[in-house]
Amino acid sequence: MYYPEEVVEEVRSRNDIVDVISAYVKLQRKGSSYFGLCPFHNEKSPSFSVSPGKQMYYCFGCGAGGNVLTFIMEYENFSFPEALKFLADRAGVKLPEQEYSAEAKRQQDLRTAILEVNKMAGKFYYYQLRTEAGKQGMEYLKNRQLSEETMQRFGLGFAPKYSDSLYRYLKQKGVSDELLRQSGLMNVDEKRGMYDKFWNRVIFPIMDVNNRVIGFGGRVMGDGKPKYLNSPETPVFDKSRNLYGLNVARVSRKKYIIVCEGYMDVISMHQAGFTNAVASLGTALTSQHASLLKRYTDEVILSYDSDEAGVKAALRAIPLMKEAGVRTRVLKMAPYKDPDEFIKALGTEAFQERIDQAQNSFLFEVSVLEGQFDMSDPESKTSFFQEVSKKIAGFEMEVERENYIEAIASRYHTSFEGLRNMVLRYLMQGEVPFRPEVLRSRKSPGRDDGIKKSQRMLLTWLTEYPGFYQTVKTYIRPEDFTTDFYREVAQLLFAQLEQEKLEPAQIIDHFMDPEEQRQAAELFHTRVPVESENELKKAMKETVKKVMTAGLEQKNASLDTTNMNALQQMLEARRRLQSLDKMVIKL
Ligand code: GTP
Ligand code: MN
Repeated sequence: MYYPEEVVEEVRSRNDIVDVISAYVKLQRKGSSYFGLCPFHNEKSPSFSVSPGKQMYYCFGCGAGGNVLTFIMEYENFSFPEALKFLADRAGVKLPEQEYSAEAKRQQDLRTAILEVNKMAGKFYYYQLRTEAGKQGMEYLKNRQLSEETMQRFGLGFAPKYSDSLYRYLKQKGVSDELLRQSGLMNVDEKRGMYDKFWNRVIFPIMDVNNRVIGFGGRVMGDGKPKYLNSPETPVFDKSRNLYGLNVARVSRKKYIIVCEGYMDVISMHQAGFTNAVASLGTALTSQHASLLKRYTDEVILSYDSDEAGVKAALRAIPLMKEAGVRTRVLKMAPYKDPDEFIKALGTEAFQERIDQAQNSFLFEVSVLEGQFDMSDPESKTSFFQEVSKKIAGFEMEVERENYIEAIASRYHTSFEGLRNMVLRYLMQGEVPFRPEVLRSRKSPGRDDGIKKSQRMLLTWLTEYPGFYQTVKTYIRPEDFTTDFYREVAQLLFAQLEQEKLEPAQIIDHFMDPEEQRQAAELFHTRVPVESENELKKAMKETVKKVMTAGLEQKNASLDTTNMNALQQMLEARRRLQSLDKMVIKL
């Protein structure tokens, strides 16, 4: 859903940031700002500031920052439309209805109807588990040491042993055959017609992050096959975009999320207090899962089964996580099969210990690699080191490479120098897989940082001293900013200042990427300590000069000397730079 800017702006301006955040964080006034304990990282003294003037927040400790919309997005883990809806409701603003095409509307109605059917089915199964007909199911779950509370929390249920109980129930509720067919709850065959997909099984309802039932898993109560049946994909059930337990894990506020294989693993971990555990839905982890996880965490603990399949699954998951920007550690489950068995055998504390000891994903990959070589054979051992060196050469940062060389050298009792030379060889050969994510995050060298700092400072001052704009605008154009991000901020900011309607919080909404939103917030919350007004003016002049010079240099580098227009602009810019000495700053 796309909302016009005016709507976003209205919702934002009708929700005072101090009011909104006060509902989550205890704030105290200090000068022109409010301070409190940051909800986005652990701290003892308050470094989280909220500025009523700017309608923005910023944490000097962890760098989290933004406006009222980004706060709700981060705190509640909402998407942008969800946050907008939440704040619109809070302020009594009516959002415009989406104008659907006929087809889109049909799809949307179908999804709503299936969710409704799922809800009814979920209630039916839940109720059955607690009747005489569900006795066997209840016994099974109790045998697996699930408490009544846990069963309730996960909405566990039971599908009775007749294969038409749910069918009859839903028909009696007036659900059409067509809708039943689309819900994935029924099997259809020519001879028997339509009948329940799940019967004589305990039922695990699968919920999305908004707690809506999107599908079901059903387990036999013994050794029958197949052990689990899962709902097929439907318009509301996309297995590659949902994770079991994420509706709870996303609000657990732990630093990491535990990813395991099975429903039962998730449930027993939650019962043991690890409410940050999730599992994929009977399929391998996908890159969509990885981006979904990235919305809620920066670190994942893989807690897959200790068998070969589990190791393979971990090896496949690690690069997907890396690509999504999620750090991964791998938990050692042996000698137990899975988290459920581990916790039953050794208990919560032992499991927490395993989490704490979980191995960095690279070292895990190396351990697996080790298994493929005969380490008692010198030749084979050399090949092992070659493979490892190749992998190490794939790390972008030298410090990272050195750290791994050190770790591997000491773990496998080989010389640091020797290993390092091997790595260097691979680095020179460039025999390293191309990794675009590394290029994106590459840090610029020092001088570049200096220029960026000046640009950042200039933008900060313009919000702090709007009067400064009258001076700046005679020298600097938004195009003079050398990175896309600063240029965009400058364009927006200059336009606001031109109209004398300074509103930094509004600028944040122009950025879709949360990292950019954060950077924009940081920009407007930087405080530059200055001793006196004279000193400030001197610093401002220096900064204007730096920004102008950098802008000129960039123009110079990409100058097309046959383009008269560009040449003229360049000359004009030089004249502006030369006249800088005469600059008089009024604040
Ligand atoms: P328990 O044996 O009850 O402890 O189950 P588990 O949670 O340990 O499951 P397991 O490790 O055997 O399997 C992991 C996940 O794979 C399950 O939660 C299911 O989602 C899926 N799965 C397991 N067996 C089957 C099966 O026979 N068919 C399908 N479609 N999925 C299965
Ligand atoms: Mn199990």
